[in-house]
Amino acid sequence: MSKKKPVVIGNWKMHKTNSEAVIFIKEYLSLMSQKTTLYLAVPFTAIKMAADAAAGSAIVIGAQNVSDIAEGPLTGEVSAPMLCDVAAQFVILGHSERRRFFAEDDNLINRKIRITIQYGLQPLLCIGENAEQRSKDSSEQVVKSQLLSCLEGITDKQLNGLMIAYEPVWAIGTGVTPTADQANQMISMCRKTIADKWDKMTAQKVRLLYGGSVLPSNAREFTAQSEIDGLLVGGASLSVATFMEIVDNAIVSM
Ligand code: PGA
Repeated sequence: MSKKKPVVIGNWKMHKTNSEAVIFIKEYLSLMSQKTTLYLAVPFTAIKMAADAAAGSAIVIGAQNVSDIAEGPLTGEVSAPMLCDVAAQFVILGHSERRRFFAEDDNLINRKIRITIQYGLQPLLCIGENAEQRSKDSSEQVVKSQLLSCLEGITDKQLNGLMIAYEPVWAIGTGVTPTADQANQMISMCRKTIADKWDKMTAQKVRLLYGGSVLPSNAREFTAQSEIDGLLVGGASLSVATFMEIVDNAIVSM
């Protein structure tokens, strides 16, 4: 099967106000040389303005979290229909910062994936082992178990539209990464796990990305790998110039 065009996703985390988001998008669009689709997961408060600024362009705007229920007395939560209403198109789910600081487990993430799909939003599931699990040599087992639990009950058809990012927790924001080959092996294991439980076509269609300390200097190494369909970029997605360089480098590697 020929390699897919790599997809690059920026995760702004808790950075950028409305006006900063709009300035970023306008600047990016004015400098962009090739029409490559890219994704930006922006803070809830900036989704509407970012989506307006990106309307009709190659930039797709999404959220970084969603509630697992559609409506109710849940102070501080944001629901899937609310995200649809502000024109979000995708949602990051299961990010290690949500797991670690907000105690999200695979069960909750599974429910969030279901409601995301139900409302026609595209889920981007994050999985990855932490430093301790890695030191115990259980990375593969942890990643496989997260994958199967988070995707429990998801059909082949639903899985086709999913994106999954392998993000080793020890590589996030640290400047340390696995080698491109190690990342490729883990992602290949994820694809095989999907092929075994669902079907082979689905496993080929699901986009499997790498994330964790991606920079302009290493983007190409990762996307040149046979199994890596794209990148999830945190810190380096906050600057137009750096993010654009990552996108350009990632795509040259095809
Ligand atoms: P980083 O973050 O690129 O800053 O390491 C990646 C992520 O958390 O998605």
